[in-house]
Parts: sequence; structure tokens; C-alpha cells
Amino acid sequence: MCGIVGYIGERQAQPILVEGLRKLEYRGYDSAGICVFDGTALRVRKTAGRLSALEEKLAAAPLPGTLGIGHTRWATHGRPTNENAHPHTDAEGRFAVVHNGIIENFQALRERLVAKGYRFVSETDTETIAHLLADLYDGDFVGTVRRAVAEMKGAYALAIVCRDEPDKLVVVRQASPLVIGVGKGEQFVASDIPALLEHTRDVYILENGEMAVLTKDGVTITKTDGTPVARDVFRVTWDLAQAEKEGYAHFMLKEIHEQPKAIRDTLSGRLEGNRVVFPDLKLSPTELAAVEKIHIVACGTAYHAGLVGKAAIERLARVPVDVEVASEYRYRDPLLTEKTLVIVISQSGETADTLAALRESQRRGAKVLGIVNVVGSSVAREADDVLFTWAGPEIAVASTKAYTAQLVVLYLFALYLAELRGTLSEAERAGLVAALQALPEQTEAVLGLAETMKGHAESVASATSLFFIGRGLDYAVAQEGSLKLKEISYIHSEAYAAGELKHGTLALIEDGVPVVALATQPNLLDKMVSNITEVKARGARVIALAMTGEAELAKTVDDLILLPPTDPLLAPVLAVVPLQLFAYHAAVARGLDVDKPRNLAKSVTVE
Ligand code: F6R
Repeated sequence: MCGIVGYIGERQAQPILVEGLRKLEYRGYDSAGICVFDGTALRVRKTAGRLSALEEKLAAAPLPGTLGIGHTRWATHGRPTNENAHPHTDAEGRFAVVHNGIIENFQALRERLVAKGYRFVSETDTETIAHLLADLYDGDFVGTVRRAVAEMKGAYALAIVCRDEPDKLVVVRQASPLVIGVGKGEQFVASDIPALLEHTRDVYILENGEMAVLTKDGVTITKTDGTPVARDVFRVTWDLAQAEKEGYAHFMLKEIHEQPKAIRDTLSGRLEGNRVVFPDLKLSPTELAAVEKIHIVACGTAYHAGLVGKAAIERLARVPVDVEVASEYRYRDPLLTEKTLVIVISQSGETADTLAALRESQRRGAKVLGIVNVVGSSVAREADDVLFTWAGPEIAVASTKAYTAQLVVLYLFALYLAELRGTLSEAERAGLVAALQALPEQTEAVLGLAETMKGHAESVASATSLFFIGRGLDYAVAQEGSLKLKEISYIHSEAYAAGELKHGTLALIEDGVPVVALATQPNLLDKMVSNITEVKARGARVIALAMTGEAELAKTVDDLILLPPTDPLLAPVLAVVPLQLFAYHAAVARGLDVDKPRNLAKSVTVE
């Protein structure tokens, strides 16, 4: 999991590469580096640490030149050190390489190269590529890359420059994202689109098994075996400003506040009267009506969205749904028939575990529907069908607006399936559609709780442990609230099904332990009140979130937060927002780097 950039043209490469890396820092940020051709040699500056550390080095010793590549790293093979930072070169400095992914057979390649006398200076799999290129070099840069790639197994997006042919930048894609930006008299490459938008909106999205040769005057795409590929230019319509902070202190806060828009955009064009329409869905109504079982597979926050999706699909369309984390699913020999629909949910569309589950499901004959935020991502391209969440680019590592947009797509899909299967009355459908349409405005209202949640967050900022409890859908939201808090504030927190506490975890509740209790489900309210009473009796400090029942709850809890009334099935959309704000303000109160929490990266492209 890393970000790569490249430039060839007539402008100075260094500032373009550094700016591109800044846009990609969310992909990894434990070291960074660039390589620029100075007219005679390939010059490299790289360092462990954030991009700012590289910028300091470059300020002291800039790299002039109009051809270059760059990298921001999230360590896989080898610790985050100066030596392991990219770009990597061969001993003679003929080739420089940046790489995102993992070369699975690097150990065997490395041993072969070491036996031939090549000396390695890093622990990375990427350095193997530089030496392999040197070993295979026969005077033809592009042909040498082809032969090297033929020997490599694994996942890689590569950008390579060669001292002997400085009129070219060669890029290769195999299972890691890569986008080429087309300019006038200059070309760009990056791991994703926001890094290119400052320069161009015309891009080529490379497919697996393809490579491209970039010169300042054009781009030639081929398969890695040399077969020509004709690819249309993709015109990017979203705005660069969408990918920037717009005055908010952090991307996460901006993205929390973008949720009304994300929900509105995700609903847009998908409702006609009380009917759900999916103009782009390829799976036919007959195929969907025949589905006997659904597996939802995803990771982290997307998995939590899946838990809500299960409740919605089962309740509305009466189809049984299993939800599983992708890293487990793939290895447990899942039972799939041609009547099983697999739904994979992914913001980035690049999560390696989710992709592996998608491929395994297809291999076993199931149809896969992707719910994805990034157009042109691997899940979007490889799934049999895609429903996009129109949340716009999500930059903060902690997912917020993608989650609520995923919920909205899942509700729409559940309604769509219900109509096909005739499991819902016209009136029920009309009620839910009206409730869905009210969500953007209601979410806006919930954002008004920001100050209240800030106060609650500050009151738990020095806690060492915290619990989120809920029943039914509230338990699903509790899991998301707990993940959000722990990943950015580093406060230990656990989500518990409220009724399960008494079977063990209640032992951890003592004087002053903060408990966030979700009680948005009217049919479970009485039971929740009992569970809250149980933790109160052990000294817990309870902050509760509810839609109704304030009279009863107010007597039991320390603080009560009321959400606007909606259909209980849709309550997760409104309930999660205060929890996101709570996590955000807890992290800020603790002085942490909210957008880039330690040990994490935005897009997890390794298994
Ligand atoms: C948590 C978070 C992660 C992601 C997970 C899946 O805030 O963002 O748990 O949800 O890594 O990522 P995607 O959705 O890109 O597949």
C-alpha cells in the first residue's frame, strides 16, 4: 500500500512529483522519495518519515530535471527506514523504480540475483525489480521491462525510468491501481485521480496486465506481452476542491459534514415516485428475483455497513443474508451456488482482502455486485455489476461519508429487491422512500449536535476504556462508533450487544467507565433501558442516543441525545453521525493526527 507518481514533459518534475505525493499521502506515509533525471544521471532523494521530511531534504538539495518518479510508502517488506524508502535503483544507477504492491516471488528472484553478484542495500521486494532490470538489460528499455515483468508474480503498479532512454517513462499495472494523466507536451502518472487533477482531467485507467510508455508527446498502451491496446480517454468530471479541506481543520471533519450531500447524491436518479430504479444495473430483474441467498463481504467500516444491509434486505426482501469480513470469507470454503448473490462493499475498491473474496466468489460461480465509491477502481471493474456510492473522494483514513452512502445504497437495493419479490406493500414502500428522502435534511440537523458531541468527547478524552452498547441495528452502529473512536483517538473501546454484557463483559464496568448506549429502536427500548440500568448500577457514566422514549431514558442515563424521528430501519444513518463527531473531537482533544492515525492507511492493498 503505497502511492506512486511520475512526470515527463518540459516543466521541472520535482514540484509536480511532491504535490502529487501530497495528494497520495493517505495511501501511506512512513517514508517518501523521488528520483529525477538531471541530464546525465538519475538522482534520488528519499527518507523515512512524512513527506515534509523529504521536502526539507529537497529544499537543501533540489533535484533539477524534467523526468521523474516519486513514492509515498506504507511499509510491507522492510521497516520504514531511509534505505527501504523508494525509489530503488540498480548498482549502476541505470534504472530507478517505484512500486505499489507486493512481489510474491521476490525472495527467489533476490537469491538468484545475489548468486550472480548483485548487492542489495534494502530489505524491500522493490529493489529486486531494479536489479532484475539491470540483469536483463540488452539496450532496449521497454523490452527489458517486458521480460522482467514476465518473471514477477504478485501485485504491482510500477513506474520506471532508465538513464539510457530519458525520453520515456514506463509504467506497468498488475492488481494495483494506476492512472495516466494526459497533458499537452507532458504526461503524468499516479496511483489515483486526485493526484492528477491539478494538471489534467483526461486520464487513461490502466487494466491489469497492461503497461504504457509515456513520452512527453504521447502515451502508448500495450499488454505486458506487447499486444497493442486501444483505450479511450476517461474525462474526470469531479472537482479538485472536492478533494481538499475547504476550510475544515481536518478532512475527517469536512467529510462528516459532507454527509447530507453524499446521501442526496447517492439517492439522486435512483427514485422514481415510490420505486427504486437502478439505470446501470446489469443483473436482470429475473436473475435478482431468483436469488436465494446473499453474502455480504467487506472489511472494517464497509463490513459494518454490511451488518445494517443484512437487516434491511432480510426485513424488506425476505432473502437470507450472511455478512462476513473478507479476510475470513475467502479461506473458509464458502457455500455458493448460482443462486447466491455476493455483494462486496468497498469505499476504495482496492482493498486486497475484499478483492480476493470477490475473485474467489466468481471462481466458485457466484455473481458479484460491488458497492463502491471509486469509479475505475479494481472492484468496480471486476465485479459483475456495480452500484456506486456517490460520496465523492474520501481522504481521511477514518471512513465517514462513504459509510452513510453505503447504507443508502443498501437500503435502495433492499427496496428494489423487495419490489421484485413482492414482499412489501405499496404503503410500506412509500413510507420508506419518504423517510429516505428526508435523510439529507435530517443529517444536516444532526450535524447541529457538533458542539454537544465535542463536550462529551472532551469528557472522555482521558478515559482508558469505553463501551458502546446497543441491540439489533443499534449494535451494528455501536460497532462502527467503537471502531471510529479507537482508530483515531487510540482509546480502547469495545462494542457489545447490550443483552450480552451480563454474560461476561459486565465485569469490566466500574465507577466512571463511560458507556455510549444506542437506543434508537422502539421495539427494543424497554430491553435497552434494563441493560442501561445494569451498567448504571455498576457505576458507568452513560451517554445515550435515542429517537423516542426520552421520558424513560432521561431518568436512567447521565446524558441523553435525541435524534430526529425516522423509520427505525434508517436510524443507523442518523445515529452514526454523533458517534463520528464524538470520535473526531476525542482525537482532537488528545492532540492526535486525526486524518492519518498511526499504523493505518486509507487503502489497504495488501492481504
Ligand atoms: C475505518 C476504515 C476501514 C475501511 C476498510 C475497508 O474507518 O476506513 O475499516 O472501511 O479498510 O476499506 P474499503 O471500504 O476501501 O474497502
